[in-house]
Amino acid sequence: MTITTGTAGNAGDLSDLVRSAVDAHRAERGPLLVILHEIQERIGFVPPDAVPLIARELNLSRADVHGVITFYKDFRSEPVGRHSIELCRAEACQAVGAEALVAELEQELGCKTGSTTSNGAITLDQVFCFGNCALGPTGRIDGRVHGRLDRDTIAELLKEKSR
Ligand code: FES
Repeated sequence: MTITTGTAGNAGDLSDLVRSAVDAHRAERGPLLVILHEIQERIGFVPPDAVPLIARELNLSRADVHGVITFYKDFRSEPVGRHSIELCRAEACQAVGAEALVAELEQELGCKTGSTTSNGAITLDQVFCFGNCALGPTGRIDGRVHGRLDRDTIAELLKEKSR
């Protein structure tokens, strides 16, 4: 199954995916969150076209489903990049240059925090504290937390991942 866009793409696949997630969790109490998590876990995001399908299956309004997706920052409505950079923007990291690093990366990548580069290579995001405050600026690159980050270190880490 391949779903790479936020639009219908292969509507049959999306419909099957939604139905499978709903069937797996329908009997649970308050199943919407777990269904959304399952869809995101399987394809990396919750496509906008999935919203009416989920709403119909759970007998909810589209606004209900959309509201939950947009309320929780962890849910994505667009595909993620092949690599992810999440930078800490909490106080301790700010004190050692996190904001400048964010600005530098946004400029270099040509995308804002919370979005993905136009070639789909990198998603840039923010987190507020990884619990690694003494070693800031801290970030998570492809799921692994690193301290004392700067632009060159991040570039090197991404290069290593691409080898
Ligand atoms: S403030 Fe950045 S890891 Fe805690």
